[in-house]
Amino acid sequence: MQNIKIIKLNLKHNPYNIYIGNNLLKKIPQYISKLNLGNHGIIITSRQVGILYKDRIKQIFTKNKNYKLITVVDGEGAKSKQCLLRVIEKIVKIDTLGKRIFIVCLGGGVVGDLGGFIASIYKRGIPYIQIPTTLLSQIDSSIGGKTAIDLPQAKNILGSIYQPKAVFIDPVFLKTLGSKEIKEGLAEAIKYGVIKDKAFFNFLKENHKKILKLDTISIGKLISVCVNIKVKIVAQDEKEKKGIRTILNFGHSFAHALESASKYGKITHGKAVSLGMLYTAVLSLLLNKCSLNQASQIPAIISIFGLSTKIRFNALTLYKALSYDKKFISGKIRMVILREIGKVEVVEGISPKIVKNALKKMTRFS
Ligand SMILES: NC(=O)c1ccc[n+]([C@@H]2O[C@H](COP(=O)([O-])OP(=O)(O)OC[C@H]3O[C@@H](n4cnc5c(N)ncnc54)[C@H](O)[C@@H]3O)[C@@H](O)[C@H]2O)c1
Ligand SMILES: [Zn+2]
Repeated sequence: MQNIKIIKLNLKHNPYNIYIGNNLLKKIPQYISKLNLGNHGIIITSRQVGILYKDRIKQIFTKNKNYKLITVVDGEGAKSKQCLLRVIEKIVKIDTLGKRIFIVCLGGGVVGDLGGFIASIYKRGIPYIQIPTTLLSQIDSSIGGKTAIDLPQAKNILGSIYQPKAVFIDPVFLKTLGSKEIKEGLAEAIKYGVIKDKAFFNFLKENHKKILKLDTISIGKLISVCVNIKVKIVAQDEKEKKGIRTILNFGHSFAHALESASKYGKITHGKAVSLGMLYTAVLSLLLNKCSLNQASQIPAIISIFGLSTKIRFNALTLYKALSYDKKFISGKIRMVILREIGKVEVVEGISPKIVKNALKKMTRFS
């Protein structure tokens, strides 16, 4: 196997490697034995991934009696308390005397968030690894240890920061994703450009055709730039205490509100994030924090990638949902605001009136 790139997440207590390479999957059991995670792996995957990769999962993992597979429903519904308990009950049955179990999250961001959360609470914490299979999970959710499930009132409201022992990114998985899922992952890639890297933002614009066709070189570059940005940010502020990691939430207060107000499922995370970035561009303009020229680059790139810029929603319902967001309100309204492409700022004490105005203006801007 050629060309495995290793990017280290340099954390004080739980440093780990992120391995990136085509056809990395088949080598993972070897890496796992070196990591000494335990003697029994529980692979959590989603229905779709289970069907598409049945033979490979069997060949690589479950033909060996030391691995068991647990499949959950597709989509955000798997991040529910019902699904959480169902999976934990299955694990309890598998976890008999003499076993030292660990979890393998094989799937998109949903499986990663659910499996990581289970790993963090089961027996007060067991080891886990991430094998992300969607673009979104490969460039974002599998790295940094944020795990969570949702409640009807708010997304990601039950969660923890609990780091995996390793992350294995195999871009070959992306070939079975639909163009809709690819585009959704691209919303997070655009986010990285907006918050930290103007050159990468321009790379995305200039190479959008190749990226949408999953050209190996362009996708490889995209993944490694995003992973490097995320790793650097998380290494500086793992627990989100210094306001550094907060910038990764650009567009996300709005996105999470939209997802919970639409009862999850109707609107996916990637779509919500692109609309959230659009909302933030409007809000940043209203706050006089950036120029129209800079703000309008956000709807422009969102359209280039065929992501949604249209929204039909009641501003009041969204405002109520926004107020549940843990980053949005902690006494004051706090949001990540655009200064210019490649540069954002965490702003506190934003007036509720401006927040509501931006909600109303959003459709006109798009
Ligand atoms: N923890 C974090 O830091 C973080 C960051 C960003 C997003 N998230 C979370 O990630 C979730 C969204 O993740 P997602 O966009 O990956 O969605 P997802 O996990 O729901 O996956 C989307 C769909 O694609 C299917 N799928 C997965 N891999 C596939 C493949 N290779 N081929 C074909 N189908 C495949 C899944 O079964 C599912 O139906 C949200 O819950 C969001 O909150 C978490
Ligand atoms: Zn996100």
